[in-house]
Amino acid sequence: MQGHDLFSLTGRLAVIGGGAGSIGRSAADVLLRLGARVVLFDITEDGLTSAAAELAPVGQVTTLCGDTRKKADIDRLADLTKSMGGVDILVNSVGVQRRMPLLEATPDDLDFIWSVNVAGVFALTQTLIRQMVDKGYGKVINLCSIGSFVGLDQKTMYAISKGGLLQYTRSAAVELARFGVRVNALAPGYVDTAMTASWIHTPEHEAEYLPRIPLGRYATVDDLKGTFAFLASSASDYITGQMIVIDGGWTIW
Ligand SMILES: NC(=O)c1ccc[n+]([C@@H]2O[C@H](COP(=O)([O-])OP(=O)(O)OC[C@H]3O[C@@H](n4cnc5c(N)ncnc54)[C@H](O)[C@@H]3O)[C@@H](O)[C@H]2O)c1
Repeated sequence: MQGHDLFSLTGRLAVIGGGAGSIGRSAADVLLRLGARVVLFDITEDGLTSAAAELAPVGQVTTLCGDTRKKADIDRLADLTKSMGGVDILVNSVGVQRRMPLLEATPDDLDFIWSVNVAGVFALTQTLIRQMVDKGYGKVINLCSIGSFVGLDQKTMYAISKGGLLQYTRSAAVELARFGVRVNALAPGYVDTAMTASWIHTPEHEAEYLPRIPLGRYATVDDLKGTFAFLASSASDYITGQMIVIDGGWTIW
């Protein structure tokens, strides 16, 4: 096999849940460049329109608007991907955040974050992996976070959800390996996106966080592309249940 063939996704169909978001678009961009066809699934119609316009010059993009918390929307997505030959790669980039002190959080806040970051991802994955099982091959890539394994100030509910997603990654990997389906995760530190910009660029937080990052800066969405390429392609076929930390060294000391 040629080196570049290791990463080829020609003939593969990828679904990007949260595909209108910053990291979802970045995943879509690199998978398209490696030859995959891509379906973007997201709750925001406007976001999908702009993502599709941005990505259309790169490759074949289809969009579907829906909510991962609604079974009917997931079923519509499954019908669409089935009609396109079945999904090979699923990137779970759907995610929400509510930053607040633990003492102010309500059960509703936790329910909301859990319903999207864990239950929605669980439901979407459970439905789409049936198509991978039918093929005997597939790649699931979950967006965990450094909050999956270290404590985070004012993000307790998010950290709970991302810790749950890490355990989902590992347990699903055990169970699905027998069907040829690999389940792995990315764990970014702070990535400079719409989700984080108003938080990480305050003078107070730059002074707190940047000295903790040996590489000296926050991640950009481009910093995640190599790992998406690796985990989506046959280059990582003997890897499952793993989480690759992309944090500039934040959590190594
Ligand atoms: N940005 C970071 O610093 C960072 C760090 C670690 C992990 N992550 C994770 O990466 C993922 C993507 O983050 P991002 O920065 O691109 O955020 P983003 O807000 O740009 O993208 C998330 C997308 O999910 C969509 N979405 C939300 N709820 C939905 C639902 N119920 N159904 C369908 N779509 C829904 C949103 O519309 C949005 O387009 C998230 O899971 C996030 O937790 C982000």
